[in-house]
Order: sequence, then structure tokens, then C-alpha cells
Amino acid sequence: MLLFRDEISKSAKRRESNIVLALDLAEVNRDHLISKSFEILEETAPYICAVKLNRQLVLPLGLYGGADKIVNRIHDFGLPAIMDCKINDIGHTNLMIAAHYFDVGFDAVTASPFVGWEDGLQPVFELARQKGKGVILLVYMSHRGASEGYGQMVYISEGNRLSPQYEVFARKAKLWKADGAIVGATYPEKIKAIYKILKKDVPIYSPGIGSQGGDIKAAISAGATYLIIGRSIVNAENPAETAKELREIAWFHAK
Ligand code: XMP
Repeated sequence: MLLFRDEISKSAKRRESNIVLALDLAEVNRDHLISKSFEILEETAPYICAVKLNRQLVLPLGLYGGADKIVNRIHDFGLPAIMDCKINDIGHTNLMIAAHYFDVGFDAVTASPFVGWEDGLQPVFELARQKGKGVILLVYMSHRGASEGYGQMVYISEGNRLSPQYEVFARKAKLWKADGAIVGATYPEKIKAIYKILKKDVPIYSPGIGSQGGDIKAAISAGATYLIIGRSIVNAENPAETAKELREIAWFHAK
């Protein structure tokens, strides 16, 4: 069984791209969401290594008979599909959420390590392992308020010391054998600190390029493996051309 992290790595090498397209459409007309998604996928598929969907697409479309059509289309292009659902509840609920996303074909889900392992994310990781799917953990988010949670100092009783929350999460990502750690491109110094902990064991996925102010070169030099890019591509006048240009910069710096 091919593991998610190997699948996306193969996809990246095949396409010479480390860009994960965030298919976040500004479209509010429900009827246009699927056709517009297909259109953007068709245009950008040669220049990306995976596609990430968000709840802003899954909520209006529904999962069965709606968003699953987009997942199938993503697979038709030979790309893995990630559901950015940021799982964040008790274990039983988390398990059902992940099971539905995996059932319609998503290859990985995102989850919040704040809920912890036991009766938190353990059931999600176990299900993912059984099915060859991936779990990608939030470690430091890209928005300005991220410091309030991910950046707070927490007391570590072992050793009687303080540690930033994101370093604690990075260690959990390693311990739990997560398939990825999400760290905002808007904070390259955090990527660097987290990469020091993760090394090559857990690849860093970095959102926040372009629209949120992050820079491709800075994120990759700090240790990011994959870049999650949405609005800069989907709202571009020419999404194909933009995806191609961004992929060239990103792949050049990744080598
Ligand atoms: P833009 O349009 O800013 O979209 O390129 C970025 C995409 O990534 C998501 N995003 C995040 N997801 N942790 C996440 O898991 C983050 O820190 C983060 N920042 C942005 C966002 O929802 C959008 O789909």
C-alpha cells in the first residue's frame, strides 16, 4: 500500500512541482462551484503536485454527490486530494469525520494537535494507517493571531522549563509520525525552528504565499517542502500561467 507521504512525493517529482493548489473559489453560486473547480483543475494540473479542498467548498456542495465529484476529478489528473478540515474534537467524532472524508476518496486530512492523542487524534491516525491515508498537523498557522495559541509559552513539567507551543506540536508531529506539519510561510523563522526538530522525518507544508505576504524562496530556504497556494493562483487572470511561474520558482529553490 502506497503511503500518502510517498504518493505526494512521487507526484511532486513526476510534475516537478511542490505546489499544493488550495482550490478556494471566490464563487458563491453553488451551481458554478463544480464547473469552475473543474476548469481551474484542468488549467493548473500540469503544474501542481496535489490539491487541497477547504470547507468553503465542501459545505455548499455536500460531500456525497457534490465534493466527491471534485475529488474524483483530482484523481483523474493523477493528483492526491487533501481535505483541510482541521479536525479538532473528541476521538469518536474525529474518527467519523475522517472516515467520511476517506470514504469519498480524500488521501489526507488536516488536524489540530491541540486535542491531544488519547481519545483525540489517535483514532484518526489509526484509521489513516489502516487505509494508507495521511494526517497533516497544524504546527504554526499563517495568520496574524497565530501567536496567541501556537506561539504561547507552555510549561513542560519534564525538565521544569518553558517551551513555545509550536515546538511542542512539532515534537508531537514527529512522535505521532504525522505525514506533514503545516507552518505558515508568513513566519520563515518559525519554519526554521520547526525544521530543526522535524528534519526530514516530517515534511513541512507552508500556506500563506502571496496573498498573505509569504515568500516562496524564504519558506523553502527555511525548510518547507510543499507550498500551499490558493488565491494567488485561483484568482489570477491566467491561473495556468501563474501556477506555471510559481512552480518554476518553487521547484528551482527546492533543489
Ligand atoms: P491563500 O489564498 O492564502 O490560501 O494562498 C491558503 C490556503 O491555506 C489555508 N491556510 C492554512 N491552512 N494552516 C492551515 O492548515 C494555516 O496556517 C493556514 N493558512 C492558510 C487556507 O485556508 C487556504 O485554503
